[in-house]
Amino acid sequence: MAAPVSVSASDQAPERAPGGGDAGGAARDRDDSAFLRACRRQPAAHRPIWIMRQAGRYLPEYRALRQRVDFATLTRTPELAAEVTLQPLRRFPLDAAILFSDIMTPLQGMGVELEFEPAPVVRSPLRSEAQIEALPPLVPARDVPFVLESIRLVRAHAPRGVPLIGFAGAPFTLMCYLVCGRPSKEFAAARAFLYAQPRATERLLGRLADAMAAYLAAQAGAGAQALMLFESWAGLLAPREFAQFALPAVARTAAALRSLGVPLIYYVNQGASLMPAVAPLEVDVIGVDWRSQLSEVRRVLGPGKAVQGNLDPAALFAAPEELRRHVDAVLDDAGPGPGHIFNLGHGIWPDTDPDAVARLVDYVHERR
Ligand code: CP3
Repeated sequence: MAAPVSVSASDQAPERAPGGGDAGGAARDRDDSAFLRACRRQPAAHRPIWIMRQAGRYLPEYRALRQRVDFATLTRTPELAAEVTLQPLRRFPLDAAILFSDIMTPLQGMGVELEFEPAPVVRSPLRSEAQIEALPPLVPARDVPFVLESIRLVRAHAPRGVPLIGFAGAPFTLMCYLVCGRPSKEFAAARAFLYAQPRATERLLGRLADAMAAYLAAQAGAGAQALMLFESWAGLLAPREFAQFALPAVARTAAALRSLGVPLIYYVNQGASLMPAVAPLEVDVIGVDWRSQLSEVRRVLGPGKAVQGNLDPAALFAAPEELRRHVDAVLDDAGPGPGHIFNLGHGIWPDTDPDAVARLVDYVHERR
């Protein structure tokens, strides 16, 4: 029989100091990791790096598991979700883990019927006020207990010094899927809904904001050491509509989480023109895609925020020495100061060579 997926003690990665440095004592403590320090804009022994979608289809071991188990089952089975979360950490000395789940998983918990094909497809897209009013609140311990159990398992088995990031979709991005029903380039139905029914849109975004606040707080309670909100479709909105609809919903989620003291990351895809609107938001880190210049993002956000990003995922297809040049460009653009977490500008592509990821992680650590 193929090696059973398990998170048994024998799978536990040895204690290590990412970056090859001898980070003894406090630096090995989970709460003093380079990643968490960078989230708080404190100097760190090396530049932390993790990779959006690091647990997933570019890894042969993930694909092997997916041949046997469908995606939804993976997310709902704590032993399997924890296993997939830990897979990239066994290969690469990454500075953070991200929970294996999906932004649509808590909506399933709220009774929204959907399939992963593999992208999420909602059976009955939300188009009416009645449907919005019928959305129940999310009670994480009752509706998505498997997510919380997955977090506990990952925390028990992750290498020391590698914090776990819990996550959720940002309200507007979730609304895009809920109203359109399936991924799309333009999300036309969701944007039309926003203009046609602005009050219903605000109601929906408010409900999602509250549900995601409860969801993220429960993840922190289960052991997630940082929390991230994915605004994957921010770039669909003009700055005015972003500020009127998407941003207040995120602010509402963020406000509910503030007292937890857990760093909050807001990833804003294609958000170069949205940075002035984002700057006052009470989050610790802003993640950006490769179309933004980090130096400019830092200038606009000011010293009170850390930044995360932003290598083009396509750069992992460059020759090794070229890849280093592109990494240098990101690091130079981010500048030497604290408060930069290296990442891709968006999720890693499924056809990426894992060896390129190994080279990337090592080189970022070498550069310090
Ligand atoms: O490694 C990680 O980052 C953790 C796992 C994770 C998944 N989805 C697993 C997944 C995370 C953080 C997400 C977030 C997510 N899901 C986002 C926000 C981030 C982004 O990329 O913008 C969005 C928009 C989704 C919605 C979604 N789920 C899409 C569009 C797809 C299909 C295409 C794709 O990117 O793979 C999914 C399915 C999905 N979610 C897969 C994985 C590994 C592929 C399912 C499979 O194995 O067949």
